[in-house]
Amino acid sequence: MVLLPFVVLLYLMVHSGYVKNRMVQVRNAVMHTEANAEALKTVEGSAVISMPAEANAEKIPKQNFTFTSYSQAVSSQADGESKVVFLAFADMGGFPMAMNFYLTSIQKYDIRNVLFVSSSEEFCSRFRAIRVACFVYMNESAHDKTSVYLSKDFINKMNIRTYMILEALQLGYHVIHSDVDVVFFRDPTERILDLCHFKDTKKVCDVAALWDSGAHNAGFLFIRNSSASISMYKKMEHTAKTTNIDDQKALNGAMRSLKKELRITSLPGAEFQSGLQFFDNSHRQFAGDHPCTNCIVMHNNWIVSMEAKVYRFKEMHMWLYDQDEYYSSTRRRYLAYQNPTYFGNDSTTLAAERRSLITALAIGRILNRTVILPKFVCAKKAQQCTILQHYLLRIFDQSFGSSYREHTFLLNELVPLTVRNSSRLTCALRNTTEAIPSSSEKIIRNQSTYTTHKKINTTNGKKRFS
Ligand SMILES: *[C@@H]1O[C@H](CO)[C@@H](O)[C@H](O)[C@H]1NC(C)=O
Ligand SMILES: *[C@@H]1O[C@H](CO)[C@@H](O)[C@H](O)[C@H]1NC(C)=O
Ligand SMILES: *[C@@H]1O[C@H](CO)[C@@H](O)[C@H](O)[C@H]1NC(C)=O
Ligand SMILES: *[C@@H]1O[C@H](CO)[C@@H](O)[C@H](O)[C@H]1NC(C)=O
Ligand SMILES: *[C@@H]1O[C@H](CO)[C@@H](O)[C@H](O)[C@H]1NC(C)=O
Ligand SMILES: *[C@@H]1O[C@H](CO)[C@@H](O)[C@H](O)[C@H]1NC(C)=O
Ligand SMILES: *[C@@H]1O[C@H](CO)[C@@H](O)[C@H](O)[C@H]1NC(C)=O
Ligand SMILES: *[C@@H]1O[C@H](CO)[C@@H](O)[C@H](O)[C@H]1NC(C)=O
Ligand SMILES: *[C@@H]1O[C@H](CO)[C@@H](O)[C@H](O)[C@H]1NC(C)=O
Repeated sequence: MVLLPFVVLLYLMVHSGYVKNRMVQVRNAVMHTEANAEALKTVEGSAVISMPAEANAEKIPKQNFTFTSYSQAVSSQADGESKVVFLAFADMGGFPMAMNFYLTSIQKYDIRNVLFVSSSEEFCSRFRAIRVACFVYMNESAHDKTSVYLSKDFINKMNIRTYMILEALQLGYHVIHSDVDVVFFRDPTERILDLCHFKDTKKVCDVAALWDSGAHNAGFLFIRNSSASISMYKKMEHTAKTTNIDDQKALNGAMRSLKKELRITSLPGAEFQSGLQFFDNSHRQFAGDHPCTNCIVMHNNWIVSMEAKVYRFKEMHMWLYDQDEYYSSTRRRYLAYQNPTYFGNDSTTLAAERRSLITALAIGRILNRTVILPKFVCAKKAQQCTILQHYLLRIFDQSFGSSYREHTFLLNELVPLTVRNSSRLTCALRNTTEAIPSSSEKIIRNQSTYTTHKKINTTNGKKRFS
């Protein structure tokens, strides 16, 4: 294929800069955190955060977050008054997701009673570097790879969630367990304690979990340190140790077998949403689609692959982790185009849009510009969709991972204003024989010699160079 030299060139460029960028990125993250913490303090100085000033003062000069035991880590991080601790587990493959969770949900709402738990030393040292508490709970072999859902590996790691929660309960703490592919719309603590609290006999419960299409979700739940909930987690621990059943099924199984003694609250679905509810049922795909005013927590599940989850967050502006200057680069140049035409039916339209995408990615490679994706036709639906409806992003990213951006990229406030304001040239490109605007004539003619005639011929969109 004629594009191969460009693919190889880009690959080399990306790789030569990769290691260096990683170092810079951690340093940036530190600076970012501190600047943001400062901003938060000034804005929210008088806001109603239930923690008294004295407790705050005591919590800030936290040492270096090197804990000698899990119980020390939990007791150091749990809220002194409410005894509630947020626990979030991830491995190295989930580091970007965990960092995003920290930025969007923990740091943003100044939640202090959090402990990240990981099976990876590397993971925790990166969190400690930005002064976030992290405990290496267990060691295991494949911790630097992204786990595929329900692989053996995945189940082993997810078992750690069961063990760490049980241990925290046995230490006398209440746990809010959150997966890292979750975003908070505000600090959920107050609402959860209002729904499930031992001080109110009518509301008292042992466990309050996100309700997800007929089952309780193990990815976001509150567990009170009652003897019933400890029994439940002991059952789950037994399941984890003796079977291959994942913690989601183990949780629901334990709930069923203890239903006489265990008081269960389902967190209200309108406030605590699954990915199915938030994205699919509510038709949210692009930033600004139906703002969710009653949402408190959303779990980005019901989608396969880490790549697709990340993309879905990015398109909704719920991704704040600026890895390798993903958003903030002022040097990177972009190319945006649209798919404005419907060619009579879905299949022909889809085929044309696919060819346009191939052409755009080719032009992007040649001009060293990152392609900002358009909206795509939705099969059998009247609305427009993201690339997720048409491509397996896990595969797509293997070739194009660094050469595209989500559709809503230029609307994202993390992108420098100079970039967002810089769209200059817009040209309509109907077919190869059509006259081409003078300023880009040379480049595009040149392009047509690289790509097959057919691809260019079917490019039937508007292209904007910014
Ligand atoms: C972290 O602090 C503890 C005591 O607060 C100290 O014993 C330990 O050596 C420190 N570790 C590092 C890596 O600085
Ligand atoms: C973790 O695993 C690595 C390699 O598998 C090993 O070298 C290291 O000693 C282990 N650490 C602990 C605390 O078990
Ligand atoms: C739960 O925690 C409270 C407060 O720390 C403690 O008094 C109580 O004994 C604990 N309950 C259990 C069952 O561990
Ligand atoms: C491509 O653009 C990047 C900035 O995004 C720049 O660092 C790199 O040097 C450019 N490559 C070439 C070959 O111009
Ligand atoms: C879509 O339209 C094209 C050409 O207009 C036609 O060849 C094709 O059969 C149509 N497909 C369907 C599913 O209607
Ligand atoms: C970008 O555009 C907005 C409005 O279009 C304008 O207010 C702002 O000053 C511009 N900023 C820069 C850096 O060009
Ligand atoms: C290409 O565009 C030109 C100008 O718009 C038009 O005259 C010509 O018929 C088109 N050719 C094809 C093959 O569509
Ligand atoms: C692309 O255009 C440049 C400048 O016009 C020219 O030197 C080069 O040979 C062209 N490349 C190809 C493959 O046609
Ligand atoms: C370009 O597209 C038109 C109609 O879409 C078609 O008739 C023509 O044969 C195509 N040209 C080439 C070279 O593929």
